[in-house]
Amino acid sequence: KTILRKVDPLQPDADIIAEGAEILKRGGLVAFPTETVYGLGGNGLDGEACKGIYLAKGRPSDNPLILHISQISELRPIVREIPAAAQKLMDAFWPGPLTMIFPKTDIVPDSVTGGLDTVAVRFPSHPVAMALIRAAGLPIAAPSANASGKPSPTRASHVAFDLDGKIDMILDGGAAEWGLESTIVDVSVTPPMILRPGAITKEMMEPFVGEVTVDPAILQKPQEGLRPKAPGMKYTHYSPRAEVYLVRGEGVQAKINALTAQEKAAGKKVGVLATEESKDGYTADIVLSVGSRENLEEVGANLFKVLRKFDFLEADTVYAEVFPLEGEGLAIMNRLQKSAGYRFIEAKGEEK
Ligand code: TXA
Ligand code: MG
Repeated sequence: KTILRKVDPLQPDADIIAEGAEILKRGGLVAFPTETVYGLGGNGLDGEACKGIYLAKGRPSDNPLILHISQISELRPIVREIPAAAQKLMDAFWPGPLTMIFPKTDIVPDSVTGGLDTVAVRFPSHPVAMALIRAAGLPIAAPSANASGKPSPTRASHVAFDLDGKIDMILDGGAAEWGLESTIVDVSVTPPMILRPGAITKEMMEPFVGEVTVDPAILQKPQEGLRPKAPGMKYTHYSPRAEVYLVRGEGVQAKINALTAQEKAAGKKVGVLATEESKDGYTADIVLSVGSRENLEEVGANLFKVLRKFDFLEADTVYAEVFPLEGEGLAIMNRLQKSAGYRFIEAKGEEK
């Protein structure tokens, strides 16, 4: 009962967009591609439609949604103020993979914000997302279109796997370009603070607004006294069925191969999350490359697809290489650490 429609990602067919917009206007749910990941859209001003989003995903109700707009004029009615830094970041990066936190107005339902008095807003650049939001004429609440806890979907097939039968429509516009969710920045504080790292990095924002900080909680296991400011960042996420471990230090490959031999002896199916440079050196049954270390954008774009593939191939244990903690690597490592439940294995001192 979920309608699946293919759309041209660059020039979406107006009839198909209109069909999706009608569903949104009457309170239904439509999954659509964005430049980051697929979103599960509902009328962002309709509390009941938003409750339907939580239900379809199995999402905890204290994890607020992002409102998506298709023109700057749609921002005013939903936010109480536009801080100077927000204006500069909007001018520089919208439309695009940047979400900002604003004080909300009363027309934004509590089910969108999980009771917070702030609202997250994003103006996506994907032509299908833009056309759909514009045709609906509404701000569209859209979390990533995965079942809660699973890696975000970067293909319509991922959405169908998780949500088929639970939502009204899926617009298939091909692969999401960035493959990791948008950067979230809180512009209500000075200096602005990154709550979730993404394609728009601290280094990219600083020329426009001066210093930008990063929520120190994002690279650590959620714990007492160190709570991430974005409520959703505290949940385990992006988890394949397999047990994932991150392996770092000298001699990662030798360490992983030694662990693989042990696991195999115990009857486990082992996967390795490798790179183009390293993939030929592993002995595991399933070796999947996320791309070249020289091209972290490629790694980010492939990460969730590869995590899902380990599930599909029924890996029991996955050992993953690590990436740098700065620039684009920060967003990759944030997702990888969550998928591994923050478990690291140190390869330092191991025989090569
Ligand atoms: O790239 C993206 O942002 C995708 C696409 C579909 O646009 N959407 C997405 O939404 O990743 P979602 O729901 O999976 O993640 C939203 C994140 C959560 O971590 C949530 O806690 C945080 O945004 N968030 C939402 N409203 C917030 C608020 N008022 N204050 C702080 N964090 C907020
Ligand atoms: Mg999500």
